[in-house]
Amino acid sequence: MSNPARLAILGASGHGKVVADIALQSGWEEVCFYDDAYPGLDMVEQWPVAGTFESLLRDLAGFDGVTVAIGNNRVRDERLETLLEHGGNLATLIHPRAIVSPFATVAPGCVVVAGAVINAYALVARGCIINTAATVGHDCRLACGVHVACGANLAGGVSVGRFTWVGVGAAVRQGMCLGEGVMIGANAAVVRDVEDGATMVGVPARPMRRKSSV
Ligand SMILES: CC(C)(COP(=O)(O)OP(=O)(O)OC[C@H]1O[C@@H](n2cnc3c(N)ncnc32)[C@H](O)[C@@H]1OP(=O)(O)O)[C@@H](O)C(=O)NCCC(=O)NCCS
Repeated sequence: MSNPARLAILGASGHGKVVADIALQSGWEEVCFYDDAYPGLDMVEQWPVAGTFESLLRDLAGFDGVTVAIGNNRVRDERLETLLEHGGNLATLIHPRAIVSPFATVAPGCVVVAGAVINAYALVARGCIINTAATVGHDCRLACGVHVACGANLAGGVSVGRFTWVGVGAAVRQGMCLGEGVMIGANAAVVRDVEDGATMVGVPARPMRRKSSV
């Protein structure tokens, strides 16, 4: 079955461009952005920005699917929830050159970028981003709004709490549990469970006081 025609994307960001590209490469025929920077922002590259989040809620019936391309994990999930409440059909966007096991589950509202691999019996909940060349091992459990950044690797059976970031190039040992709202720094190696809200950096990863967000 081919994808339906029109996709609305909330969030006219750099990530939004990646999402538009994936949509068009995976069978969607037309994409249209919405962003609260409208009307100051009315185009993203060649794609139109048609209105704000409020206007998207009114326009939803004119789209076959909708997704959110906002980097902030909590905000992305909140917007997806609101879109669902308004009857939006959340798209699942998987780049044609990502590898997703037929025995894995990737929920609506997720984006899986080129080169990513999701292995058998992994469960990826709503609104996760599995970014370029990231890997999610067998039996991993990712809660809503997780972002596994470019080139990060989760070994088998890793559990990741809501809104957690796994930074670029990080590695997480098999069976580890990462709590909610965790930040794993770029290139960290996680070899112990991580408590909610912690920021971890280094090899092996150790707690760091957060000074700012990414
Ligand atoms: C961990 C992280 C969130 C910290 O950000 P921050 O709070 O702004 O921290 P700062 O840049 O102020 O750095 C604070 C200290 O930690 C060190 N540090 C920061 N990130 C580090 C990392 N990944 N590994 C090791 N040390 C790190 C800095 O060198 C600095 O050390 P200093 O105080 O001795 O100078 C961030 O550096 C990071 O790694 N983000 C991941 C980025 C990413 O993957 N983005 C994905 C985009 S798709």
